[in-house]
Amino acid sequence: MDTKIIKIDEENIDEALISKAGKIIKNGGLVAFPTETVYGLGGDALNPSSSKKIYAAKGRPSDNPLIVHIADIEDMQYITESVTMPAKALADAFWPGPLTMILKKSDKVPYETTGGLDTVAVRMPVHKTAAAFIRAAGGYVAAPSANLSGKPSPTNAKYVIEDMDGRIDMIIDGGDAGIGLESTIVDLTSDIPMLLRPGYITLEQLKKVLGSVDVDKTILDGDCKERPKAPGMKYRHYAPKGDLTIVDGDMEAVVNRINELVREAQARGKKTCIIATDENAGRYDTSYIKSVGSRDDEETIAHRLYTILRECDDEDIEVIYSESFEASGIGQAIMNRLLKAAGHHVYHT
Ligand code: TXA
Ligand code: MG
Repeated sequence: MDTKIIKIDEENIDEALISKAGKIIKNGGLVAFPTETVYGLGGDALNPSSSKKIYAAKGRPSDNPLIVHIADIEDMQYITESVTMPAKALADAFWPGPLTMILKKSDKVPYETTGGLDTVAVRMPVHKTAAAFIRAAGGYVAAPSANLSGKPSPTNAKYVIEDMDGRIDMIIDGGDAGIGLESTIVDLTSDIPMLLRPGYITLEQLKKVLGSVDVDKTILDGDCKERPKAPGMKYRHYAPKGDLTIVDGDMEAVVNRINELVREAQARGKKTCIIATDENAGRYDTSYIKSVGSRDDEETIAHRLYTILRECDDEDIEVIYSESFEASGIGQAIMNRLLKAAGHHVYHT
């Protein structure tokens, strides 16, 4: 398949191009598009054959449901059984933005889109190109992250092209995704809402609106025997090709241990990389450092993490050691993704 690649500037949207992209969706095709979190791989959420095509293009198991993206709050009603009070409150507080809500689905949404579930994930992105594209596409765009299944989500068009060129009809290049980690997912179908995937909208922010919020135990716990409530969270995911290990503990000990591990890896002839924070970058005895940002600036760490994991692949890095991060606020999302990328492989010093 010949994949068209077009550029659209969020601040100066080319309506003719957007309408072309929308037509592709209406005709049952697939278009990758930028959002504020990561790039999405879009198809018509109400068309079962579009959802099947999405699974095929990603190489994704079809029991892993897709998020339905909307551009107008009123459209939530059409795809859900009812827009509950907590859903309204969350929409008021965080939409448009990087939050996905799980609600009971209406019969308008095919099971192909929800992976056979009676619930549907809904998100209203704030990215202007995404919103214009969703409207042009008819209002309901099913979109997982635009990576091949198992790879880190793409935060810029370069990595979408790497994974999807030849597999979909069009890629909209909108530059860098601002946040860099996927949306926060909260399930509103249980008595007490439950955080299924941490993200830029933090647990503390959700609690301010909802009161109590439970947390899916599997988010940070690799030994937990329960199944994650978001089917997609059970897969080893976000993973680079190299062997990633997190080193956790007192900073002094972490730096020493990483230096030791890197020397060992190099003695074995392995191409090695260290994911370090600015504060420690000068303390490692190698030129293979990738600095993920300052410990005080979690937004930058979130923004850089997937790009660094992809760069490791570009450079054929075989062994990666990463410092660990405080798992609160946005740090909860950073550690969740890092732990999954590492297959929960952690050295405690
Ligand atoms: O930021 C994002 O959310 C990006 C952009 C493109 O919007 N999308 C994204 O989609 O990350 P995806 O498919 O890579 O991740 C969706 C996650 C999966 O873990 C899936 O299992 C879960 O959401 N999910 C979707 N529908 C669900 C449902 N009805 N119940 C529970 N989990 C659901
Ligand atoms: Mg994904």
